[in-house]
Amino acid sequence: MIKKCLFPVAGYGTRFLPATKSMPKEMLPIVNKPLVQYGVEEAIEAGMTTCAFVTGRGKRSIADHFDISYELEHQISGTGKEAYLDSIRGVLEEGVFTMVRQREMKGLGHAILTGRSLIGNEPFGVLLSDDLCLNAEGASVLAQMAELYNQFRCSIVAIQEVPMEEVHKYGVIKGESLKDGIYRVDDMVEKPSQEDAPSNLAIIGRYILTPDIFEIIEETEPGANGEIQLTDALQTQAKRGCVMAYKFEGKRFDCGSVPGFVEATNHVYENYYGKD
Ligand code: G1P
Repeated sequence: MIKKCLFPVAGYGTRFLPATKSMPKEMLPIVNKPLVQYGVEEAIEAGMTTCAFVTGRGKRSIADHFDISYELEHQISGTGKEAYLDSIRGVLEEGVFTMVRQREMKGLGHAILTGRSLIGNEPFGVLLSDDLCLNAEGASVLAQMAELYNQFRCSIVAIQEVPMEEVHKYGVIKGESLKDGIYRVDDMVEKPSQEDAPSNLAIIGRYILTPDIFEIIEETEPGANGEIQLTDALQTQAKRGCVMAYKFEGKRFDCGSVPGFVEATNHVYENYYGKD
C-alpha cells in the first residue's frame, strides 16, 4: 500500500501574475477550493494520507491551509456557515502534512530529491497540482495508478494524448502497448520539438515512483531548460528496469495555463459546485 504522496509546490506561477505575486499559485481557487486541496483530496482517496510538500519561500499559506484556523473555527462555530469548512475539515482529519523547503529552483527532479527525507525508502505518489484531474465516474487518477502499482511494482507515469503542436510543453513517452491504455516505456524525452517527439503521449502530473529514483536523480545531469528533469531520471530507470505509462480514466485540466484554468472553473461550477 502506498502511503505517501509528494507535492512539489515551490514553483513561481509567473503565468498568473500579478495574482501570484504574493500568493502561491497552488492556492488559486477553482470555484471555492484551492487547486492544492483538490490534489490532496485525490491523494487521500488513493490511500496516500501522508502529504509531503516541497515548498519554497512565499508558500506559507499552503501550510496554514492544512492546519486549523482557530479564530475562524471559533467565529463560525454553531452557525450555518460551518458547512463551508466541511471539505477541509475532512482533509485535516484524514491527512498528515509534512514539509521541506526547496531553496533553489533546479527543476522537478531536484524538487523530488529535496523531498527524499519526507519519503524514505518506500514507493510514493507524486502529484503536480497544476494538473487538475477529475473522474466523476470512478476512482481518482492516483487511485487508479496505485492499483496498477500492485500489479507491476515499478514506477508509473500518467499519460494523455495531446495534439502534436503541444508536445513541446510536456515529457513525451514511447512505449510498447501491453494492453488497453498500459504501455511499457522504451523512451522518454522532456519538452521535445515536434520533430523529435517519439509520439504524442504526454506525461501528466501524476506519478508513482519507486525509491531507487532518488539515487538516479542524484546522478542525473541537468537537461531541458538547464534543469534536473524527472523525465531524464525516469528514462534511466526505464532502461535499467521498468517504467510503465498509463492512459488514465478521467478529465484533466491544465490549470498552469489561463485557458485551462478557466475551463476547469466552468467545469467544476457546472458539474460539482453545491452538489456534495
Ligand atoms: C512537468 C514535467 C513534464 C510533464 C508536465 C505535466 O513539466 O517536467 O514532463 O509533462 O509537468 O504537467 P512542467 O509543466 O513543470 O514544465
